[in-house]
Order: sequence, then C-alpha cells, then structure tokens
Amino acid sequence: MITRPFGATGARVPVIGQGTWHMGEGHAPARAEVAALRLGIELGMTHIDTAEMYGDGGAERIVAQAIAGRREDVFLATKVLPSNASYAGTLRACAASLKRLKTDYVDLYLLHWWSSQQPIGGTMRAMEELVKRGLTRFVGVSNFDPGQLRDAQAALTRERLACNQVLYHLRDRAIERDVLPSCEAQGIAVVGYTPLDRGGFFRGVVAEVARKHGRTPRQVALNFLTRRAALFTIPKATRLEHVRENAAALDFTLTPGDLRAIERAF
Ligand SMILES: NC(=O)c1ccc[n+]([C@@H]2O[C@H](COP(=O)([O-])OP(=O)(O)OC[C@H]3O[C@@H](n4cnc5c(N)ncnc54)[C@H](OP(=O)(O)O)[C@@H]3O)[C@@H](O)[C@H]2O)c1
Repeated sequence: MITRPFGATGARVPVIGQGTWHMGEGHAPARAEVAALRLGIELGMTHIDTAEMYGDGGAERIVAQAIAGRREDVFLATKVLPSNASYAGTLRACAASLKRLKTDYVDLYLLHWWSSQQPIGGTMRAMEELVKRGLTRFVGVSNFDPGQLRDAQAALTRERLACNQVLYHLRDRAIERDVLPSCEAQGIAVVGYTPLDRGGFFRGVVAEVARKHGRTPRQVALNFLTRRAALFTIPKATRLEHVRENAAALDFTLTPGDLRAIERAF
C-alpha cells in the first residue's frame, strides 16, 4: 500500500485506509468485521477510522479486537461528537474511546462536525491537552468548511490541524471548489469519506477505464479520489473480497486522459 505524508504532521499514512461506520451494530457477526479489518491491516490499510458515535461505541469495540497485538502497526483515528465537545466533555469522551479501543493513545482525534452548542475554543484547548498528555498524537476536524477550519486553527496555540475528514466521492466533488484548495494551501490532509457512495457510477466512463486497465470500477474510483498528494480515502468493507479489491486500488496508474474523462463525466 502506498503511503504519503499526512498533512504537516511528519507521519506517513496509507493512502487507502478503512472505515468502520455501521460496524458493531449487528449487521454482520463481530468476528467477520474483526476479520475484515485484520485482513485490511495485513494488506497495508492501516489507517483505521472510527468514532464514538458508530454503533454507540460498538465500532470502537470491534476495532479494539482487530488491532489487538498490532497497535503499533496502525494509524488509529476516532472522533468526539459535537454534543460532547466542551473542554471537559472532550477529555471525557477521549478517555471513554480509549477504554473501548483498549489502547492508551490514538494517532488522530477528530471533532466529528462543527458544534453549534460548544464553542470551538474549548474543544481545541481540550485537543491540545490530549496531545500534551500523550492521549492523541494529532488533532483534526471533520466536515469543516474553510471558515470553520480557520476558526479551529486560530483556536489552537501549539498544534496544527492535521486533517479535515470530508465527504468525497465521484458524484459529490464539492470539496474541490474551496475545501481541498484551502487544505492544500495550509498543509492539512483531506480524508475523503463514503468514497464508494453505495455504487451508482459503475457504468459509462468509469467502467470503460476499468476495463482498459483490467480493474474494477470501484478501484478506478478510489484511485481517482486519491489522485492528489493531499488526498486520502477510507472505504468501509466487511466482506473479505471487498477488502482485497479496495487494497489493490492503487496498483495501477490512471493516465492524464483517464483523469480528464472522469473529471468531465462527473
Ligand atoms: N466524518 C464523517 O462524518 C463520516 C461520515 C460517513 C462516513 N465516515 C467514515 O468513512 C467511512 C467510509 O464511508 P461509508 O462507510 O459511509 O461508505 P463507503 O465506504 O463508501 O461504502 C461502504 C459500503 O460499500 C461496500 N463496499 C466496500 N468495498 C466494496 C467493494 N470493493 N465492492 C463492493 N462493495 C463494497 C461495503 O460493503 P461490505 O461492508 O458488505 O463489504 C459497504 O456497504 C465510514 O465507514 C466512516 O469510517 C465518516
């Protein structure tokens, strides 16, 4: 798996990682979800994204099983809910996540989305305190627009925002307008979520490009969605064949012509 610098953190992170939304909710047996994540780790998709929200802590418990004995190999990210994101609430939420994850630190702690109730200053102060205590290595946000990114960065006194995790798939490329350029200019990694968008783009241009390279349309999508140095993606997969397919999505190079054709089609 290809890795690249994660914003200005100095860490290198696999371009394709693994999401965990809807894990730990009983949709699939826990052992299947754990096996999928473990296979993904073996295949190099060691950036694992979870959140206290997912399955009300259930996804973090699944992740704990998947990373048991392999903690140091994983770049682990989790998120605090905006409703919990007061200064004290953020510290409490992180402690609870670490307990469920059965680890003593995460690599990345994110505010899940902008809070209309909790001032960003308190959240960011708590984030810096977590870094100081060694409970997270890096601080990030999710679903932030450029103005919110500016406010969050201004509220940090020692740390720099490592990433902004945002919706990014072929049929929703809105971040390309301002969010991506603004993050690129500031050295903030952009982690795209829901990259597969429940399908819906597998005919036409993407299918043709896939056929030409002997790949699948989803591999073409993941490849396209990480075509710039600031971009990362975190597909979620419980089926082992899905994990394998996603892990191999960067084993080929889209030509400038392919990129233009896909850009035009979406
Ligand atoms: N920050 C936020 O607000 C936010 C919001 C949404 C998501 N996220 C994060 O981003 C992650 C990814 O987004 P997502 O879960 O919404 O959507 P996604 O990863 O785009 O799609 C997941 C769905 O695609 C299927 N799938 C995966 N690989 C496949 C393949 N190769 N072929 C066919 N189907 C495949 C999965 O099936 P199986 O599971 O059956 O394999 C699952 O049903 C989440 O899990 C979460 O960690 C963050």
